[in-house]
Amino acid sequence: MSKTSKFGSKFGTIAALGGSVVGLGNIWRFPYITGQHGGGAFIIIYLLLSFSVAVPLLISEITIGRGANTNPCKAFNFYSKIRAWEGIGYLSIITAFSILAFYSIIAGWALHYLIVSITQGFGDVSSAQITENFVSFTQNPYLSYLYTLVFIGLTALVIRAGVEKGIEKYCKIFMPTLFIMIILLVFNSMTLDKAKEGFLFVFNPDFSKITLQSFLDAIGQSFFSLSLGMCCMVTYGAYVSKETNIVKTGATIAITDVTVAILSTLVIFPAAFTFGIQPGQGPELVFITLPSIFGQMPGGYFFSIFFFVLLFIAAITSSISMFEIVTSYTIDKFNLTRNKAVVFITLTVCILSALCVLSQLEGSIIKIGGKSMFDFLDGATSNFLMPVTGLLTALFAGWVIKKAQFKSEATNNNTINNKIFNVVYMLIKYFLPIVISIIFLTATGLIKL
Ligand code: TRP
Repeated sequence: MSKTSKFGSKFGTIAALGGSVVGLGNIWRFPYITGQHGGGAFIIIYLLLSFSVAVPLLISEITIGRGANTNPCKAFNFYSKIRAWEGIGYLSIITAFSILAFYSIIAGWALHYLIVSITQGFGDVSSAQITENFVSFTQNPYLSYLYTLVFIGLTALVIRAGVEKGIEKYCKIFMPTLFIMIILLVFNSMTLDKAKEGFLFVFNPDFSKITLQSFLDAIGQSFFSLSLGMCCMVTYGAYVSKETNIVKTGATIAITDVTVAILSTLVIFPAAFTFGIQPGQGPELVFITLPSIFGQMPGGYFFSIFFFVLLFIAAITSSISMFEIVTSYTIDKFNLTRNKAVVFITLTVCILSALCVLSQLEGSIIKIGGKSMFDFLDGATSNFLMPVTGLLTALFAGWVIKKAQFKSEATNNNTINNKIFNVVYMLIKYFLPIVISIIFLTATGLIKL
């Protein structure tokens, strides 16, 4: 079934792929990493790396997927008889399960905060109280796991409805809503007292804070944000119609992705400066800092609802894309119906998430290499599995698939984008493998620059 399903329209394709890339990575992770690396200068590096490294890989993944028109494991065998290449697909399945497990937990937090912002709001609650609420919520395994389960359940329902009637249909509603919410929030931030400081922080680059680590974080963030290194775009590529302009779609999605990331910083930093909060706060920026800001802001009740609706939508349209990677494989491999595959995957993700929630508790005995499972999976996926899978995919596209075959798929039988394809191809073949290898070896400490 998954082999023949296709997205029904151009807008549906952009909405589905855009839904995958725009996620917690843009709204939760990008602002706090930018804050930690001193603002605007990091954004410049991020943009350069996104368009020179990440976008060519994005285009390759979509091309591989559309050409092979099957699940991410079989896709590699379509081009090469060497079975080992299928390994890229299996690595992706492992990565997808791992990320889904902890992504659903954070998405569950977003859902909890959405409910709290509707039922109680954050007015009249002191900052200390908000911090305490966050800690007691995340340390309460039953409550936080309950929200995780609800989130996984909602994701499963969308996947169960199928590619066009599930993924595409909901993304077509959710993505425009997300844009409206974020624009309203940016306008609100512009009216705040210290809006100017926030804007300068984002747009006035200070290169003194840039280190080697900034480059590593920028590339890791851009892979995560563009849903790369996990065959996500190979999976969705199979649902993209033959008429779609892949290069243009890739560029549109990347522009959407960086736009939402930058808009998120414009929501958060003016507010942080106005209410005297340091921008380099770390992961709690969205769950502790923002609620205390909303509590003090005029109209904060509504803006906090908008914000957590935004966060929830961003999370679910991304988690469905990860869920679909595993679904498309399970359906084909075990010859299951979509329904049965979804039940099986849902149970597996629920178990993995439960282990993550438990291992995060203070004094928990579920540890891997001294780390909580949550931190282990986060580190293992972003520092190891995703760069390795990304590198292998780039090598596959540049060196294993025949150039003529790859080109004909990427350019709709050599009818469009012939010139720009040559640039993209050079980047994929030479630039990407070199850059990803250097970054990977440095990040793992195997070489020192
Ligand atoms: N891009 C999403 C985000 O920014 C996360 C995501 C969805 C993802 N699918 C993926 C990350 C596949 C890596 C691979 O939150």
